[in-house]
Amino acid sequence: AELTVGVDIGGTKIAAGVVDAHGQILAHAYRATDPHDPRQIEGAVAETVEELRSQYPQVDAVGVAAAGFVGSDRTTMLFAPNIAWRNHPLGSILTDRIGLPVVIENDANAAAWAEYRFGQGRGADSMVMLTLGTGLGGAIISNGQLIRGSFGAAAELGHMTIVPDGHFCGCGQEGCWEAYASGTALAKLARSVAVADPDGAQAMLAAAGGDQIVGAHVTAAARQGDPLALSLLTRFGHYLGVGIATLTAVVDPAVVVVGGGIAAVAGDLILPSARTSFLNNLSGRGFRGEPRIVTADLGNDAGIIGAADSARVPARTTERVL
Ligand code: BGC
Ligand code: NA
Ligand code: ZN
Repeated sequence: AELTVGVDIGGTKIAAGVVDAHGQILAHAYRATDPHDPRQIEGAVAETVEELRSQYPQVDAVGVAAAGFVGSDRTTMLFAPNIAWRNHPLGSILTDRIGLPVVIENDANAAAWAEYRFGQGRGADSMVMLTLGTGLGGAIISNGQLIRGSFGAAAELGHMTIVPDGHFCGCGQEGCWEAYASGTALAKLARSVAVADPDGAQAMLAAAGGDQIVGAHVTAAARQGDPLALSLLTRFGHYLGVGIATLTAVVDPAVVVVGGGIAAVAGDLILPSARTSFLNNLSGRGFRGEPRIVTADLGNDAGIIGAADSARVPARTTERVL
């Protein structure tokens, strides 16, 4: 297959693209997601694929990157913290609707695969990918293979416990990394800080035009030099670095690639503090190799590109990725 479609289903939006064999996106399509309504999501995915196929009729397979736990059958969504999927046969529903072969991949795994093939992970034996969006996505590539685990749900790195008995998480647990370092966590933190200190939070409140602050407003205020917004991003980076130190103890990666929407717009504001707290928390510091901690080359398109690539050569997907 020369051209395939990759569709990235996130917590708030769907982004799709026609992708060639070099990982280049030839056309995009977008839809909003209603995370509470799996049928709306399936309809919106089908629409993006239709829209792209009308421009590129030669497309012959679809890869879907989905923000949740993908079963080892690569078609069932076992669970998702931020989307209403519970043992949901997403792959077969989409295959029926679209009429082309559909491969399902976890969204962060798809992003990692794209970075490994075409971006920051090229040439690395082992790499960790983190995606910062509605949730905190994770993926581990070791010896050129995505780690899938026994049941498909390995590398759900956002659900490592980072603060015992900490904030509640959509996965049913408390203190998950995602509850401290994701767009959702950043928005919650900013809103509560704005209640506690409305004067200090003026710049963020102004960016939001009210009290419904989201991550983008924090970033916008930080770009203007607002000290409170900058401190929230430093704190975000701190939590990111603590988790990366723990992951380094497990994986010993050559590179940690940080992607997703927040890294695309605020990577330069978050990564310096992530690197500092990574080093401060690294075991055996000074006596071991240290991974590069970098922002994704493919930005927020990595999920689309990786999903499209998994759909392109099913043989390779089974031999090398499974
Ligand atoms: C989900 C993951 C997903 C990540 C990023 C997490 O809440 O558990 O499956 O990869 O969000 O979307
Ligand atoms: Na993953
Ligand atoms: Zn969790």
